[in-house]
Amino acid sequence: MATQFDLRLDPSPGDQHEEELVVTRDGREERMRLHEYDRVYSIPGLYDEILRRVEYASPAKVAELLFAATEPGGVRALDLAAGNGVSADPLLAGGAAALVGMDLIPEAREAALRERPDAYLEYVAGDVGEPGLVERLVSQYDLNALVCSGGISHIPVDAFAAGWAAFPAGSWLVATAREPMDEYAVGLEDVVTETFVHRKSFSGEPIEYIALRGRKPWS
Ligand SMILES: C[S@@+](CC[C@H](N)C(=O)[O-])C[C@H]1O[C@@H](n2cnc3c(N)ncnc32)[C@H](O)[C@@H]1O
Repeated sequence: MATQFDLRLDPSPGDQHEEELVVTRDGREERMRLHEYDRVYSIPGLYDEILRRVEYASPAKVAELLFAATEPGGVRALDLAAGNGVSADPLLAGGAAALVGMDLIPEAREAALRERPDAYLEYVAGDVGEPGLVERLVSQYDLNALVCSGGISHIPVDAFAAGWAAFPAGSWLVATAREPMDEYAVGLEDVVTETFVHRKSFSGEPIEYIALRGRKPWS
């Protein structure tokens, strides 16, 4: 997508949650935090351009871990906290059979449908903990994996557990986060974790995350 803006990442030191960027469109400057996702997703192409500049690696790591354990053609995944759908790219390139997207905010769904209209069979703007929602998606699309690139720590543990409970035995969970994901990975088997460089900060320093893969027990 051709960018219709100039972008500057503010390199001022600060926590990941405080990183700010400046977008100039039609001569007007807007300053926003990266974590103001509703604003970021609403500007076509902006999130992808930010991720390109910070060498964002979580989606590729998720796909790598998932495909190391499964046949890509059998993967039918819920992409949770999917944002603008950037996490779908390496999954589809690797041959995943089916993806369903979900994010809490409607701006994420709008961005994904605008920028990756063919990536998902369905993209839901909703809460993973909403009763019946994930059950419906798992049943309708025969889902057998839940992936969450960079977003699981944004999701309350109870809401995540309610959604994950809807997946059948043998389903895979693959996620990345800054902190250990023990509370999300309760009861999983065949657990593998790996530390990797998730992306650069706006000041160019590497930010390390943990990638986790595990499987819901068969019995
Ligand atoms: C760091 S972004 C990750 C987006 C995308 N997966 C990626 O790799 O760039 C975190 C996303 O989590 C979403 N989010 C936060 N809380 C959520 C919740 N309870 N359920 C679903 N998505 C949530 C946010 O709206 C945001 O799009």
